[in-house]
Formats: sequence, structure tokens, C-alpha cells
Amino acid sequence: MYYADEVIEEVRSRNDIVDIIGSYVNLKKKGNSYSACCPFHHEKTPSFHVSREKQMYHCFGCGVGGNVYTFLMEHENYSFPEAVEALAERAGVKLPEQSMTPEAKHQADVRTKIKDMNKLAAGYFHYLLKNEHGAHAMEYLKNRGLTDETIQKFGLGFSDVYRDDLYKYLKSKGYKDEELKDSGLIKYDEKQGASDRFWNRVMYPIIDTNNRVIGFGGRVMGDAKPKYINTQDTPVFDKSRNLYGLNLAKKSKRPGIIFCEGYMDVISMHQAGFDNAVASLGTALTVGQVNLVKRFTDRVYLAYDSDEAGTKAALRALEIMREFEMPARVISLKPYKDPDELIQAEGNEGFEKRIEQAKSGIMFEIDILAHNYNQEDPQERTQFQKEAARRLSVIMDPMERKNYVDSVAEQYDIDAGSLKEAVTRFGTAGVNKVDTTVFRDNRNRRSPEEEKELKQLKTERLLITWLINENALFNKLEGKISAEDFLDPVYRDIVKALFEQYANEGKVTPAAIISHYQSKEEHEKVSAIMQQDFDMEIAQNEKSKVITDLVRSIRHRSIQHQIEHAKGDLVKTGQLMLAKAQIDKLQIIL
Ligand code: GTP
Ligand code: MN
Repeated sequence: MYYADEVIEEVRSRNDIVDIIGSYVNLKKKGNSYSACCPFHHEKTPSFHVSREKQMYHCFGCGVGGNVYTFLMEHENYSFPEAVEALAERAGVKLPEQSMTPEAKHQADVRTKIKDMNKLAAGYFHYLLKNEHGAHAMEYLKNRGLTDETIQKFGLGFSDVYRDDLYKYLKSKGYKDEELKDSGLIKYDEKQGASDRFWNRVMYPIIDTNNRVIGFGGRVMGDAKPKYINTQDTPVFDKSRNLYGLNLAKKSKRPGIIFCEGYMDVISMHQAGFDNAVASLGTALTVGQVNLVKRFTDRVYLAYDSDEAGTKAALRALEIMREFEMPARVISLKPYKDPDELIQAEGNEGFEKRIEQAKSGIMFEIDILAHNYNQEDPQERTQFQKEAARRLSVIMDPMERKNYVDSVAEQYDIDAGSLKEAVTRFGTAGVNKVDTTVFRDNRNRRSPEEEKELKQLKTERLLITWLINENALFNKLEGKISAEDFLDPVYRDIVKALFEQYANEGKVTPAAIISHYQSKEEHEKVSAIMQQDFDMEIAQNEKSKVITDLVRSIRHRSIQHQIEHAKGDLVKTGQLMLAKAQIDKLQIIL
């Protein structure tokens, strides 16, 4: 392990989970726990819970959960040591310089090295742009109206015309081929060997909200195809969870965040003073990106291209925004193609005006809808009005709904009364259902053995849940069951740790056990067990019976297993048979 257990535990206990998660998510207090809409899947009603007492979180909707470390690993895409470092800094804990195990060191190194290589590459590309190698690229950027200040601010660069220029540069800095491959900056080909992913392109470094260079976009300077090449996903670059320009936009004093489609749009907008502009990284808007901006703003503007593809993208983006209850307005750029063109033509006043005139998402959708129907034809017009009513019915707030009904009625010359009636008839049936397909359980059919094993694991989980919630059990179970009786190795570890905690401190701290593990997957698994909640209010006598059954079942499997593995050892087998016979007599009385 990278840091000693005590250090990890100290850092964890000094960072209250409600504070940490509360700085990312809007938590509402409910009894002893806090809840919110889950930041890891879309939903409208909160199923994400944070417990101050347990120092853990859990989402009943999508099953994520863990302690403060898990949260940062999930939300910031940190590795375990990175999460420890971030929280240590926050709490003012000085971390000891630790020697790492080779494996942990390798894990931490890969990510750090990629960030270092990216930073070096960005510096190198920028240097090339500014000297004679990049004269042509500089001319290109200047022709597109960029100032030196803007070029500096975005750290723009140029990748040289040779096919292994960056490769040689990074090699000279001591990086190995394997490391270079991890960074996504270098490609390998069996015949040709190493070559640069980017060459003869204008380079746009992609910088995350922690100001680290995580990847690049590279644009040709002419009409060649492909116009852009982006870094493929690497351990530090996830296209779906980052936004171009957000490192700057998050500091903007302007209201809201403006989403546009292209890197050039972002740059051009920032130069014109709209320093709250961001763009996706060559893909459609993702849920992860909306999640990300939610931390910095409470409203967004869409400034997507005015062509058909841009309109489609805007409609899709509005759908996601709605699922996240993020108010969104759509900026019309017509007759210009994109924000960059509009600003070139009408300057920042022109764009400012477009922001003022931005339409709410719903009005934009209804506008598009109106164009799909022939308003001269009574049947089509009726169809349009019904569809419009359905859209309006998704507005939950009655006052807002009325205002929209009035506006739509006026704009499309519909009788307000009958439109209202149609909207009411839809009730809330028109409300988009939360898309749960992503989380649908697509288990295959299981064999009887698998079913049996799953049932066994469930029994083991239940007993662990009881142990965590009823500390009196530790004394009652002493000598009757031990960690070794558990089938699942992870459960075995957990039980062992719980008994140790209880013996040493007289209480258990489940959140601390999670930190014994380093990967997100392990955190998920361990925390899922700890969070299992059930109705603890069962009668005392029933409780004794329930626990007794659980212990018997676990012991029974354990002894059976030992018998099967004691082949030939008659003495041992005899003892085990005896122990097995006694299981039925075992009674736990609470
Ligand atoms: P300019 O053409 O220089 O004005 O760039 P732009 O940023 O305005 O690009 P455009 O509107 O054509 O495309 C929007 C975004 O889609 C770009 O910023 C890229 O992220 C992405 N994109 C465009 N073309 C390509 C391509 O050929 N390949 C990939 N991977 N992404 C592209
Ligand atoms: Mn453009």
C-alpha cells in the first residue's frame, strides 16, 4: 500500500463526508441522513444518501457507494493515492514521504507520467508555434483573428511536419516507449515503429478543472481530412467527463455556462469577453459533462451550430439538461453557422444581443416542432398543437406552466383556454421517464450451483450488516463463528477487520475498512455490503432467531467445505462431523 493505514484513516476521519459531498452536490437533510439526486446517474427524485454517522454514501438507484475516498475516485476520476493526497491537503494533514510497493508505484506513476508528458508536449508545441517552425501555423491562427494574448491563454501550439518529432523530444526527456504509448501521444506500428499521433497540426491542449493537460485536439490548417484528431481515452483523459475551456470558464463572472460545439468557438468567444464558454471534446454532450458543470453553475446556454446537425445536438442536449433539472436556453446564431462566425461578423455586441434573446429550451423545442407541421393544414395544425401541449405538460411548476401556455398560445395563435385544457389532459404523462436502460440488470440465467452460491453470499452479507448495526453481536458471536467461515474472500477480510476494530476500540468504523482497498471496483463491492439496510425494528426474539439462522447457515457451508477437503484424514473428518452435528444446537440469544 502506498500510504500507511493509520495515515489513510487519519485523513479520512478529518474530512467529514457530508462537507465533502456537499461541496459537489446539493444535499438536503432528512433525519440522520442527507439526500440528493445522484451525481452518477440521471434521476429526478433523490435516491442518493449520505450518512454522517457512518461516513458513507450510497445510491439506491444505481448502487454506487463508499466513503470520501470512493467519492473522489468516482467523481474526480482520481486514483486512490490521489484522493488521499487531495483530502490530506484539504484537512492540512502532512503526508509522510512513503516508499511504495512496486505495483502501487507503477499505478500511481502511469498517471503522473502521462500528465508530465502532456505538459511537456504542450510546452513543446507552444514553443514550436512561436518559432520559425510554426510560422505557417501562427499565420493561420492570426488569419482567424486570434491575438497573441488568446494564443497564450489557451496554450495553443503546433506539431511539426516530421512524423516522429515529438517522439524524439520526449525520448530525449527520458521517457520509455511503453510510457509514451500510454500517453496516447505516440502510436506504434509493427512495420514503421513509433510515430507521433499529431503532426503538422495546430494544437489545442485540453486542460481539466485542476489545470492539468489531459489531452489534445489537433486541427489541420487546410481542408484535409480528418479536420480534427483528438487524443484517444487514456488513464487521465476521459472525453465524456471533461469540457474544453472549463478550466477558464469556471472562474468567469458571467452568469451561466455557454456550451458550444467547437474548440474554435470557445476560443473566439473567450477572446470576445464571453469567458464562460465551453465545448465538448468532439463528441455529443454527455451526462458526465452536465454533472461536471453542475458544480460551477445553475444554468446553461446552448450556442450550437445553426445547421441541422447542430439543431439535433441541441435537442438532445436539452433532453439531458432536463433530466438533470438544469435550466437551459438556446442561443440562435442564424444566419451565421457558429459562434465564431457570428462574432467575426457582429462582434461581441452582436453576441450579447443573442444571449439576451435566447429562448428557453421548451420554446426552442416547440419552435422546431412548429416547423415540422404544415400550419395551413387543419389536421397537421391540430397534431402540432397536441404535441406542443404534451411538451408543456412536463413543466412541473404551475405558474411556470401557465406562463408557457400563454406564450405558446400567443406565438402560434392558439386559443389559450383550449391549449391549457389539452396540457392538463396530459397530466404528467408527458414527463420523460428517467432512462434506466444503462442500469438494467442483464444477468444471464444462472445454474443451480450459482444460485446456491449467490444465496450463500447474501446470507454472509446480511450477517455483516447485522454486525455493523448491532455491535452487541461481537461478544455474542465470539467463538461461534470466525472470519474463516465466510466463503467470499472480501467478506472474510471485512469480518476480520470488524472483529479487530471492535476488540481494539469497542466500536466499528465501517468507512475505515473501505480504505483498505484501492480500486473503485473494490470500494463499490465493500461499501455495497456495508450499506445494506433493512428493517432493524424486528422484535427481539425474532432477531435472535434471524441471527441464529444466519450463523448456522454460514457455519454449515464452512464445515461442509472443510469436510470435503479433509479427504483421508479420519481424525479431522470425525471432528468436523461432530461440529456439524452441533450446529443445530447452536443458539444466539440477544
Ligand atoms: P473550425 O473549423 O476550425 O472553426 O473548428 P470548430 O471548432 O468550429 O469545429 P467544427 O464546428 O467543425 O466541429 C466542432 C467540434 O467537433 C470540433 O471542435 C471538434 O471537437 C469536433 N470535430 C470536428 N471535426 C472533427 C473530425 O474530423 N474528427 C474529430 N474527431 N472531431 C472533429
Ligand atoms: Mn468553426
